[in-house]
Amino acid sequence: WARHAPYVIAINKLKAERDAVILAHNYMTPDIYHGIADVVGDSLQLAIEATKVRAQVIVQCGVHFMAETSKILNPAKTVLMPDMGAGCSLAESITPEGIAQMRARFPGAAVVSYVNTTAAVKAASDVCCTSSNAAQIVAAMPGDTVIMTPDQYLAQNVAKQVPHKRIVWWEGSCIVHERFTAADLRDFRAFQPDTTIIAHPECPPDVVAEADFSGSTSGIIEFVERHRPAKALLVTECSMASNIADALPEVEFVGPCNMCPYMKMITLEKVLWSLHSMTTPVEVEDSVAAKARVAVERMIALSR
Ligand code: 13P
Ligand code: SF4
Repeated sequence: WARHAPYVIAINKLKAERDAVILAHNYMTPDIYHGIADVVGDSLQLAIEATKVRAQVIVQCGVHFMAETSKILNPAKTVLMPDMGAGCSLAESITPEGIAQMRARFPGAAVVSYVNTTAAVKAASDVCCTSSNAAQIVAAMPGDTVIMTPDQYLAQNVAKQVPHKRIVWWEGSCIVHERFTAADLRDFRAFQPDTTIIAHPECPPDVVAEADFSGSTSGIIEFVERHRPAKALLVTECSMASNIADALPEVEFVGPCNMCPYMKMITLEKVLWSLHSMTTPVEVEDSVAAKARVAVERMIALSR
C-alpha cells in the first residue's frame, strides 16, 4: 500500500475536482478495487450503476466494451478509458456481419448478445445479456430457437438451464476461462477433497460440471461470503480472490487462477493520467448508440 498511497490520494482528490466517478469491474487489482473505485461489480451491476451516475465524468476501470456500455447509457457524459487497448477476446470475436450471418442461418430467431461485444454488435442484436441474467433473458425470448453470441461456452451452459429452447451459438471464447480444464479440476479435487470449487460460466461446460457452484463474478463473491467454505478454488480471474481475501480470513483461497491481460492494462498510474489529461474519451456514433441502447435497456428491464 505504501507504493500505491500517493496515487490513491491524488486520484481521489482529482476525482472530486473533475466531478468524476470510478466504475470498477470485479477483476480490477485490489489497489483499484479498494483504493479508488466508487462502485464495484459484475458487468450487469456496472451497466445498471451507469444509468444512475450523477457525476459528469465516468472513469471506467474495466475493458473497452464496458466503457462503451456506460457511454451508450450516458451519451451526454464523458466516459474515460485509462487504456484504450484494454479489449476482450469475446468482443473481438464477432462483428455485425457475424450477427447477420447467424440471422440468415436461423431466420426469425432472436439474437441475444453478451455485453462483452462492441456497440455495433449490440446495435445489431435484439437484446444483451450478462453471465448473471443469461438464462433469464434467453427464457424470455419468443420462439423455439435463440441465437447466442459470441460466447460458445456461456451459450452451452445456458442451454442446460433452459432446456425448452434450442440455443445456437457463435464460436467465440474468453481467453481466461477457456484455459481451465475439467481434468485439472478433477486432479485438484483428488489432491484437496475439502475444497469448494466455484467456476464462472465462461468456462467450458465440462469445467462447470466439476464445480460446486457457477455464477457471475458478483455471484461468486456472494456465494463465498454466504457459505464461507474452509477452502475455495475460484475458477476465474486472479484478482477475484485477492479482492475478497482480506475480508474473509476464515476462507483459504487455493489453486490456480488465470490473469486477464486486458483487465490488467488498467493501473493506478493510468487512471491518474486519465483524470489529469481527461483521456481517452470513448465515443459511440449516435445512430449505433441509439440501437445498442435499446438492446442494453431491454436487458436491464428483463433482469428486474
Ligand atoms: P461478469 O462480471 O459479468 O461475471 O463477467 C465477467 C467478465 O469476464 C467480464 O469481462
Ligand atoms: Fe474478456 Fe475474458 Fe478478459 Fe472478461 S476475462 S475481459 S471475457 S478476455
